[in-house]
Amino acid sequence: MRSVVLFSYLLLGLTITVHGQSVIVSSPDPLFTPESVTTTTQAPIQTTPERDPNELPLGEECNEELCKLPNCRCSSTDIPGGLLPRNTPQFVTITFDDAVNVRNVMTYRSILYGRKNSNSCPAGATFYVSHEYTDYTLVNELYNQGYEIALNSISHRTPPDYWATASYDVIKEEIADQRIQISHFANISIESIKGVRLPFLQLAGNSSFQVMADYDLDYDSSWPTSAFREPGLWPYTLDYASIQDCMMPPCPTASIPKPWIQPLVSWTDLNGFPCAMADSCHFTPDLNDENAWYQFIVSNFERHYLGNRAPFGFHIHEWYLSSNPAVKAAFVRFMNLISNLPDVFMVNSSEVLDWVKNPIPVDEYKAKPCREWSRTICSSRPCGPLYGEHNWMIYYMSACTVCPRVYPWTGNHLGR
Ligand SMILES: *[C@@H]1O[C@H](CO)[C@@H](O)[C@H](O)[C@H]1NC(C)=O
Ligand SMILES: *[C@@H]1O[C@H](CO)[C@@H](O)[C@H](O)[C@H]1NC(C)=O
Ligand SMILES: *[C@@H]1O[C@H](CO)[C@@H](O)[C@H](O)[C@H]1NC(C)=O
Ligand SMILES: [Zn+2]
Repeated sequence: MRSVVLFSYLLLGLTITVHGQSVIVSSPDPLFTPESVTTTTQAPIQTTPERDPNELPLGEECNEELCKLPNCRCSSTDIPGGLLPRNTPQFVTITFDDAVNVRNVMTYRSILYGRKNSNSCPAGATFYVSHEYTDYTLVNELYNQGYEIALNSISHRTPPDYWATASYDVIKEEIADQRIQISHFANISIESIKGVRLPFLQLAGNSSFQVMADYDLDYDSSWPTSAFREPGLWPYTLDYASIQDCMMPPCPTASIPKPWIQPLVSWTDLNGFPCAMADSCHFTPDLNDENAWYQFIVSNFERHYLGNRAPFGFHIHEWYLSSNPAVKAAFVRFMNLISNLPDVFMVNSSEVLDWVKNPIPVDEYKAKPCREWSRTICSSRPCGPLYGEHNWMIYYMSACTVCPRVYPWTGNHLGR
């Protein structure tokens, strides 16, 4: 009897090491004290009576001598590789969030497709896709057009507090499983999906970064900064403590090697207030004034371009463009402007990281061959009606591979 109990105790201890929860630190039953384990087994948990065996080490102040590229970078506004601003490519990352479907793909087709940078390579953009109402044949189309597909969760549940308190297991089901889900229904490779943006830009402390480290996701793009706008914060890793301001707590404070942070360097609105996404600015120009919007975008861009050239993020939801044609026109004018600047590159988010890990001067960067991506086939099929087991609703979706049995959701991400 006793050995069975001990055995399950050890099993539990193992589970915990994998899943990052603190369940077993103190047990009311004296049988379970670490001492009694020590005397009867060779268990590896014997020497941790006080501390949660799974508690993560706290990130220490960054040590530039130990933290070196390509796999470690201190949080800082220094240009990678010690380059001068004029030798540094100015990256522009255009990103769209949420479901991809027939309502918004028209905009993507009309303003993005076929766009090129001044080096004649295709211009990139990144889509942080959420699952509900997404049409996976259109995700496949975006991917085949050369845009990067990234994760914005399966449920995109409200309220934001759901994300603030999300455990390791919740993030695993919402994010790590979503990667498999998109890969499956859009027929794109798992490896091509590398990035994470938490819904509402609401961070979840250490847990999302632990999941990313365990499931080989390369970067997070959820963390806004207002303090490091001028000069802007460059991407960095979490091996050491971050200097970044925490606008949406809880922010990670543990040392979690591997995943990168691509900070959302806030824009500055007309009254000087920060906005993490272009469509969340409060004091904007008149929504019908194309010229004023163009000036507004360019002046935010110039803070980067004429400064330390930290990547300039243009983060927006499609509805803001389709409901404000003047803003959309200004945005297109801005993209036309940068496609004529020889040291500015509109790229997918993971291209920024590739450069940061291995920084080279802009002349060398320009001369490189264009990136390649392998197109995949989508055998488009309409699926539905599909029963939503989580909310008793009926859904329709389109997929490239097979139709699910029920509407996919967290806990059953393939809808089997
Ligand atoms: C993250 O981990 C650190 C180090 O273990 C810990 O001090 C901190 O409380 C954790 N953050 C959250 C929000 O749990
Ligand atoms: C995004 O950029 C990375 C790095 O250059 C590249 O490997 C990847 O193929 C790109 N993704 C797409 C969909 O073009
Ligand atoms: C998925 O794409 C690959 C690569 O193009 C292709 O060989 C395969 O047939 C596609 N699967 C389906 C179900 O269309
Ligand atoms: Zn979203």
